[in-house]
Amino acid sequence: MLPCANYYRPETLAEELDALFDPLWQFGALAGELASDRDFVCVDYKNTAAVLQNFRGEIRAFANVCSHRFNRIQPGERGNRPLTCSYHGWSFDSTGFPHGMPRRDGFVLDDRERLCLTGYEVETCGIFVFFRKRSGGPSLREYLGAFYPLLEQIGSYFGPEIDAGTSPHAANWKLLVENVLECYHCSVVHQDTFVKTLGIGRAGIEQERFDGPHSSSHFPRTATAGEARRQKALAYLDTRAFTHDSFFHIHIFPNLFISSTQGLSFYVGNALPVSATETRLRFRLFEPKLDLTRAQRAAQDMINQSGKALGRAVIEEDRAILENVQRGVELSEKPGVIGRDEIRIAAFMRAYTHLMGGGSLGSIPPVDDHVAACDPTRSIAE
Ligand code: FES
Ligand SMILES: [Fe+2]
Repeated sequence: MLPCANYYRPETLAEELDALFDPLWQFGALAGELASDRDFVCVDYKNTAAVLQNFRGEIRAFANVCSHRFNRIQPGERGNRPLTCSYHGWSFDSTGFPHGMPRRDGFVLDDRERLCLTGYEVETCGIFVFFRKRSGGPSLREYLGAFYPLLEQIGSYFGPEIDAGTSPHAANWKLLVENVLECYHCSVVHQDTFVKTLGIGRAGIEQERFDGPHSSSHFPRTATAGEARRQKALAYLDTRAFTHDSFFHIHIFPNLFISSTQGLSFYVGNALPVSATETRLRFRLFEPKLDLTRAQRAAQDMINQSGKALGRAVIEEDRAILENVQRGVELSEKPGVIGRDEIRIAAFMRAYTHLMGGGSLGSIPPVDDHVAACDPTRSIAE
């Protein structure tokens, strides 16, 4: 386990931003959000305000901070607008250069580096667009390893977005990560949501997969009280391309979550640190990609309504617990205990500790000792 102080010390967050966020690929946007000229998506966390922007089909990423006198350039979370500052009207091109400057002749233009926005690297895996602040290091394909083809594949099943939002949590970002790496809490915390409605949460973790700092697993379903009725109502979705009788969850290090509920809906969550004790969970929910008849469309709209309400209820249930846990880590003097169902947390902590200690991505020790993960005195993540 990690020392409790790692969950509230501002110095630890500063070290994490330096070791885990700035040099590694960070999730930025979904391709559909950047499909048209001038589409943009902003990503904000403690030391970062990034903007990903479509310039006539080219996706670029920059610091969303004007090189003139520091105004935020693109407002809000996403939209469609040229990359133009709303303070003195500088307009930036795809290289980050201010090609449009009111009263241009009043400026000395020979220091291009100073006039340009700070640029970030951008790479895409299927529909998932990532950026990296500190250049150099592995390509996105190398970084994602075995998860690269998995992300390409799962993204191809996403249909239209049905919900998007952010939820502020008074909790350290790692508590949000650890929470989604296990469904051990599901049968208690999500009794009325996951368990009752979807049949997820009673069975233990299955098919864990690890590569580098990333992991995935299935959380199998058990029959719900109205199982036959549920099956019948969802029968029109039987032709969907991706189907599995579980909740399938992927964690891309450090803070991206992608999940599929039986291939019936897809979720993308991003835990963005605001401070050592505050995190913004940014989420997007999708229906599966399918050609629907008009009647099926109407049925899907109803399912989307309840899926949206369910998704938000689950986020709230987790948030309430995680804010308690935050208070708990601040009061506790000894590390906690993890068991077999929490093996992915052990893997996360192992990768975290390795990378925070200056270890390389290529030499993260594999998670092979399940017994050690169950025995707090031999914790593999210490
Ligand atoms: S601060 Fe952006 S144009 Fe002046
Ligand atoms: Fe949960």
